[in-house]
Amino acid sequence: MTLPVFTKHKLPVVLAPMAGVSDSVFRRICVEHGCDFTYTEMVSAKGLFYGGSKTKSLLAVSPAERPCAVQLFGSEPDIVSDMIKRIADETAGDIAMIDINMGCPMPKITGNGEGSALMRDIPKAARLMEAAAKASPLPVSCKFRKGWDEKSANAVEFARAMEQSGAALLTVHGRTREQLYHGRADRDMIARVVEAVSIPVFGNGDIFSGGSALDMLETTRCAGLMVARGAEGNPFIFDEIRAALDGVPFTPPTDVQRMDEALRHAEGFISEKDPRLFPELRKHMSWYSKGMRGAIDFRRAVNLAGTPSELLGIIRAFRESLVGVTE
Ligand SMILES: Cc1cc2nc3c(=O)[nH]c(=O)nc-3n(C[C@H](O)[C@H](O)[C@H](O)COP(=O)(O)O)c2cc1C
Repeated sequence: MTLPVFTKHKLPVVLAPMAGVSDSVFRRICVEHGCDFTYTEMVSAKGLFYGGSKTKSLLAVSPAERPCAVQLFGSEPDIVSDMIKRIADETAGDIAMIDINMGCPMPKITGNGEGSALMRDIPKAARLMEAAAKASPLPVSCKFRKGWDEKSANAVEFARAMEQSGAALLTVHGRTREQLYHGRADRDMIARVVEAVSIPVFGNGDIFSGGSALDMLETTRCAGLMVARGAEGNPFIFDEIRAALDGVPFTPPTDVQRMDEALRHAEGFISEKDPRLFPELRKHMSWYSKGMRGAIDFRRAVNLAGTPSELLGIIRAFRESLVGVTE
């Protein structure tokens, strides 16, 4: 099994695509913490085709986070293939792989036959993958779920069809579409997919610590570990997982170190993105401050901040309030 991506480690630990979360600023911070590979937020192939500037801005990749995969969603083979060619042309060197989203559970996506709806129509998904793989100068992967629902859990059959259609790598999130993000991710199903195909498979679902990363690896023998919610407000999880894989101790960050990272995140966001979007930082600040003394008041103040500089001032003051506090 050779990985089509050039990661530093044989067993890569990667940041999952997360709409509204895994933007270029957060991806870079995760890379600085040892994340081996990242994905853009999902990008609409149709949106790109019709030239939406907001859609286009999702493709921005900074040199510090190279290489990165672009995740596209769509269901029309011609449009998806054309957009892959365009992305490969326009982003030469920044992008190592194209991933097709076949797992998104949101009704506005599945209602168009995209995302996890493709798991209900394997021939259609196979035509899409075949066209994409043929058109693409880059490896094409796809990310999907255990199945649409428990009764129709078809990840193994789906994985085989994707492999035969030219996919270079697969990622399986061990939940059904019906489960959304509830219940436990089924790692046995991921293990069955790993067994069924000869291309690399990344395991995804419920990796929240070094221990759960080792469990994912041992249970599934996957070729890479994909972390989503475990990285929210906690880019240190990549250091923790790498330490667990290397069998060395990991010292968790102090609250001050966590807020230092929160501040860097906010400063990066405000300087590199449209500063008017600063309210998008609220959720990140809430995640970073989870469990800290004074976090409730901090979040309230963050939500009331009227300008980017006011927000930065609030973060700095909260960080200062933690200095010297025994944890
Ligand atoms: C806020 C949020 C946004 C997400 N956006 C995407 C996305 O754009 N593309 C995708 O394939 N999956 C997306 N996902 C799913 C995650 O990539 C991942 O499969 C899922 O959260 C399970 O992993 P976890 O248990 O580590 O969180 C999203 C999940 C969350 C929580």
